[in-house]
Amino acid sequence: MHIDVDLASRSYPIYIDEHCLDGDLLTPFIKGRRVLVVTNKTIAPLYEARLSKALSAAERVSSIYLEDGEQYKTMQSFDAILTKALEDKLNRSSVMVALGGGVVGDMTGFASACYQRGIDFIQVPTTLLSQVDSSVGGKTGINHALGKNMIGAFHQPKAVLIDTNTLATLPDRELAAGFAEVIKYGLILDKDFFVWIEANVTDLVDRKHDALAYAIKRSCEIKAEVVKQDEKEQSGMRALLNLGHTFGHAIETLWGYGEYLHGEAVAIGTLMAIKMSGSQYHLGDLYDRTKSLYEKMGLPVSLEGQADLADFLQVMSVDKKNIDGNIRLILLQALGKAYLTDDYDKETLLRVVCQFIEK
Ligand code: NAD
Ligand code: GLY
Repeated sequence: MHIDVDLASRSYPIYIDEHCLDGDLLTPFIKGRRVLVVTNKTIAPLYEARLSKALSAAERVSSIYLEDGEQYKTMQSFDAILTKALEDKLNRSSVMVALGGGVVGDMTGFASACYQRGIDFIQVPTTLLSQVDSSVGGKTGINHALGKNMIGAFHQPKAVLIDTNTLATLPDRELAAGFAEVIKYGLILDKDFFVWIEANVTDLVDRKHDALAYAIKRSCEIKAEVVKQDEKEQSGMRALLNLGHTFGHAIETLWGYGEYLHGEAVAIGTLMAIKMSGSQYHLGDLYDRTKSLYEKMGLPVSLEGQADLADFLQVMSVDKKNIDGNIRLILLQALGKAYLTDDYDKETLLRVVCQFIEK
């Protein structure tokens, strides 16, 4: 199956299938070209050999193995990719291929956006989170000690290859982190999808192929539509994909990159956002329904440890959505209806944050 991300000259296909890593879908994108595979020490032993076969039409293939973890999504790793590209004499017609989760994908995308002012890259995402979110849409970048994803570029891949079988080796905790982003799509834009997730939560957690494949497909369809409408997050539409992320990024930054997985921080952040939304709109039992889904999926619904309120708000104020230091939030008007705003009760924000960060 494939979905097109429709962006005029920057359009590209997302291939989703059980064994697509073993086919020749990548051949048109790499034939006769130099390829640099960017991956890490965990993923390479699992999938690099299969990917190498899929790249056999390339002029030459080399690889770089990064350290594994969000704490390595840094300038140093970015520099290592560029150094390897220079050592291997990649040129303007060369291609970088990201084999791994969102960390590898974001860094490879950013390195390919910068190398010789921009070369092609391909996403081969191997975590649920990267298959449903980070590999699609062209947001690339690295973290800074003062803020997550603060350095980066919009750079669309030439293709996204999602082999759903790669999820077989993914640890449960990482799978759960991906579910947080899947649930997000239902909450912000697709009530029916949210209800479908509720009805299929057991199959999803049990890794039933059909359920996972549908969740990935629907998530990619929604993301492709949003990116088509607002590629560079200018109209406010794409910002909706950040439900819970302003809170979540503050959690990731303050608790330390890697302490809470991105999806885990997003889950807790989403509960904070729903609490905030509930003070403005009647959301019925949506908070409890979402919390119950997270619990069934093995996601955290509260924070271990504490943070200082002023520190938390300070990190939230570094978010890219903000204008003139005002914290802008994605809130919900109803299930499936999200909006971007800075018009909310500031006291409620303080109260909600305190509820979560203080014991
Ligand atoms: P990750 O890349 O750290 O991968 C999670 C872990 O799973 C890693 O240890 C990895 O080595 C391992 N792994 C990957 N595939 C595996 C497999 N098939 N089998 C076994 N182990 C495997 O984390 P992630 O959740 O994929 O991505 C999180 C990152 O994505 C964050 O940095 C976040 O900011 C970013 N992100 C970016 C966007 C975007 O639009 N660019 C969207 C959402 C998230
Ligand atoms: N993950 C948010 C975005 O791609 O815009």
